[in-house]
Amino acid sequence: MPRAATAATWDMTASNRIARTRSFLTTLCLSASVAVAAASPGPGEQEVPDAFEVCLACHAYEPDEAPLEGPTLWGIVGRQIASVDGFEYSDALRRHPGTWDRATLDRFLGNPQAFAPGTRMDMGGLRNERERAEVLGFLEQLKPAADAERTDDD
Ligand code: HEC
Repeated sequence: MPRAATAATWDMTASNRIARTRSFLTTLCLSASVAVAAASPGPGEQEVPDAFEVCLACHAYEPDEAPLEGPTLWGIVGRQIASVDGFEYSDALRRHPGTWDRATLDRFLGNPQAFAPGTRMDMGGLRNERERAEVLGFLEQLKPAADAERTDDD
């Protein structure tokens, strides 16, 4: 009965995986509540706005986080377009000149394919202006705290 044995093995692997995912999610929830409870959040501890949740499937956003399907968004504002070392961008994005600032991000996020036809970012775009503003405000915080202070002093 090799077939049944294989099925049983698969079941065990699957339930292991579910158990692992569950404890991972618990950890995530715990860190989220810690972040919300902190009086002044440090880098990477900001509360994630609802509109950003869709991005989490493909993007890491904390320093030193392992990359997902998309490049990390840590330090995105002020960064040259398509410039994360070792990430394989589409030609569409790699050939796009400029840096990411509020205006370029607003256009890209509103309609990725219109901004960079052929981009691999497989996402319809955030058509809602308020949602884009929420995401942009969050992206602007993804930088070291010292950097933020220096900007304030300027
Ligand atoms: C289905 C996966 C997916 C989702 C969902 C997604 N992205 Fe992306 N994103 C990518 C990929 C892949 C790239 C690289 C695109 C390319 O090379 O053309 C990318 C690129 C980017 C870039 C350019 C980064 C750089 O280094 O130049 C930004 C900014 C970005 N995404 C922001 C977002 C935000 C904000 C959201 C949520 C509103 C989001 N993405 C949702 C997959 C995704």
